[in-house]
Amino acid sequence: MIVVFLGPPGSGKGTQAKKLSQELGLLHISTGDLLRDAVRKGTELGKRAKEYMEKGELVPDSLIINLIEEVMPQDGGFILDGFPRTTAQALALDEMLRKHGRELQKVVLFNISEEAVVERLSGRLSCSQCGAVYHIKNHPPKKEGVCDLCGGELLQREDDREEVIRKRFRVYAEQTRPLVDFYKEKNKLVSLDAEKGVEEINKELLEVLKDGS
Ligand code: AP5
Repeated sequence: MIVVFLGPPGSGKGTQAKKLSQELGLLHISTGDLLRDAVRKGTELGKRAKEYMEKGELVPDSLIINLIEEVMPQDGGFILDGFPRTTAQALALDEMLRKHGRELQKVVLFNISEEAVVERLSGRLSCSQCGAVYHIKNHPPKKEGVCDLCGGELLQREDDREEVIRKRFRVYAEQTRPLVDFYKEKNKLVSLDAEKGVEEINKELLEVLKDGS
C-alpha cells in the first residue's frame, strides 16, 4: 500500500505516520526528517535546504524530487509524509510510480485551523536523537527535556517560532492546497478532522486504509 499524508504544518501527519507505519508494517518516508538529517550532517543537500527551511519556505522541487527518487523503495508499502507539496512534485511522483509499475492507493488530507496549528507547534518538542515528537501540554515527556524512548535531549525546532509557523501555513495554502483538487479528481482523496485526539484519528486511519493492498 502506498499512501500520501497531506496537510498543513502541525496537523499531526508525522505523529500518525509513525504509529501507522508500526501498526501496518509500512515504511515512513518524511521529507522533513530527511532534510533535517541532511542539515545536521552538513551534506550538500542540507546546506542548500537550510536557508529555505529556516524561513518556512519550500525547498526547490528539483532537490526534493531527487531525494525521493533516492529513497523510494521498489517494493513494499510506504507512507509519504510531507511529499508531494507542489503540483510539480505530484506529477513527478506519478511518473516515478508509473516507472516502477506501482500505484498510489490513497491520499489522506489532515484538516486543521491555523490557530490550532500555532498552539500545537509552539508547544512541540522533538528528540534530537531519535526524532520522537512530544507536546508540552498534550503529550509531555515523563522527565522534562528528556526523550522517553531513547533518553535524548528534547529541543524546539528552529521553524516552530510563531512567525515562521504562520509563514509555513501561508506557503501551504498557496503551494500545497491545490493538490487537494488534483487528488480529488483522481478519486484518491480521503479527508479527516485533524483536530480530534491522536487515538481517535489513528482508529479512523486504520478504518480508511484497511482495504488498501
Ligand atoms: P516538515 O517537517 O514536513 O514540516 P510540516 O509539514 O510543516 O509538518 P510538521 O512536521 O511541522 O507537522 P506534522 O503535521 O508532522 O505534525 P506533528 O505530528 O509533528 O517540513 C519542514 C520543512 O522542510 C518545510 O517547511 C520545507 O522547508 C521543507 N520540506 C519538507 N518537505 C518538503 C517538500 N516536499 N517540498 C519542499 N520543501 C519541503 O504534530 C505537531 C504537534 O502536535 C506535536 O507536538 C504533536 O505531539 C502534536 N499533535 C499531533 N497530533 C495531535 C492531536 N491529534 N491532538 C493534539 N496534539 C497533537
